[in-house]
Amino acid sequence: MPSAPAQNDIASSNDGLQPRSAFSSRLGFVMAAAGSAVGVGNIWGFPTQVAGHGGAAFILVYLLMVVVLAYPMLVAEMTIGRMAQKNPVAAMGSLSDKPFWKKTGAVVGIAGIVTLSLIISFYAIISGWLLAFMLEPLAKLAGMTGLASWLTSFSTSLNLIAMGAFMAVTIHVVRAGVSNGIERWSKKLMPMMFILLIGLAAYIMTLEGAEQGLLMYLKPDFSHILEPSLLVNAMGQAFFSLSLGVCAIMVYGSYLSEKESLPKTAAMVTALDTSVALLAGLLVIPAMTVAQANGVTIYAPDGTLLESDTLVFTVLPALFNSMGAAGSLVAIAFFALMSIAALTSSISMLEAPVNTVCEQLNSCRSRMSIVIGGAVSVVSAIIILNFEALFGLVVTLTTVYGQPLLALLFGLMLTWVLRRDRLLNELKKGSPDMEQSLFWKIWPWYVKFVCPVLMLFVLLK
Ligand code: TRP
Repeated sequence: MPSAPAQNDIASSNDGLQPRSAFSSRLGFVMAAAGSAVGVGNIWGFPTQVAGHGGAAFILVYLLMVVVLAYPMLVAEMTIGRMAQKNPVAAMGSLSDKPFWKKTGAVVGIAGIVTLSLIISFYAIISGWLLAFMLEPLAKLAGMTGLASWLTSFSTSLNLIAMGAFMAVTIHVVRAGVSNGIERWSKKLMPMMFILLIGLAAYIMTLEGAEQGLLMYLKPDFSHILEPSLLVNAMGQAFFSLSLGVCAIMVYGSYLSEKESLPKTAAMVTALDTSVALLAGLLVIPAMTVAQANGVTIYAPDGTLLESDTLVFTVLPALFNSMGAAGSLVAIAFFALMSIAALTSSISMLEAPVNTVCEQLNSCRSRMSIVIGGAVSVVSAIIILNFEALFGLVVTLTTVYGQPLLALLFGLMLTWVLRRDRLLNELKKGSPDMEQSLFWKIWPWYVKFVCPVLMLFVLLK
């Protein structure tokens, strides 16, 4: 069947002459947005935060953060995108007719895109390692021991090549366009990821030592609940996990059909993302205690959990190695799961700058995917070459400060700058009863007044 590049490959300024790219169905949107949300943050970040911050106590605080801050912000960011039907910079600039707010909005949009581009550049490094760890057991099985040890070496050459390979796959999908690339791949990859996750968790449960992990996961240790870092960590984790504040969700929102209800669709994405995080905990935490039962060290001498990177790249591979022949298969499945989750996230990240530059400069998607993907890879390479100095710094600046603050600015501009009747009008699309709903009675003033106060409280505490 011939593909339809003309439809998906548009880079028009949405002047009504050419149809704008769009997801072809609600399922397609939900899979793609959940694909963005479900990533390394869920499968690696969430479980290790749980293990390090009092088990179920962290889960409770995390769920609270998702409900009171992340979900309301997710609706806000999606609403801005769908209302404008434009790229984030144009969308943020279209919330008001006043020149001051037009400029301010565009600057906030640009800040989001720049932050997002930096997020891709570190995300691609981590994802490259995941790819390498997936290939390592294969290299071993093929008898290529030299290659196998290089693949897990953390050397500069490995970092550069693995990052480049991951970026190449991401660029390939984004080049194909919204429904032909992103939607098609998300619809294939997300169910595959789900099956791998459930299968692996079920298998790990059967192994000796898994119950301790399960207990640690489900039993809250409230001694951690007053730690000042707990709230900030839980908030950062929630914003990172839902891909908030950096225009990725805004761009996906701009491809969402007007027939869909924004609060409902956002709730579906939040529910999927949170379920995958909770499920991943059922896999990773019992896997840690199984590893411990097999004699692998998971705690540092001072009793704290080992660094989270050590856990994924040292402890789990050690566990897989101790499992004999089945271990190689489990290792491949585990790192394939992580790589797939990372890919559907990185696609959503690259899509935002590509869409913005294509629309603003009226240039073609295919070329811009390569140009922007290439530029991000160069930044990524600079981080790799100055790893000690830059990696942690970029992660902290973009995710701990950038994402929550930018998400807050989106929410504030939507509720303070945009006229209330325009906001209501947009929310009514797909939910005609909006005006009478509880959602409309609570959400606008909640985002306007309560979210900023809550967030300041968390950040300044
Ligand atoms: N949510 C993704 C994860 O959990 C990663 C992510 C963070 C992201 N920020 C983003 C994805 C911004 C897209 C856009 O791993």
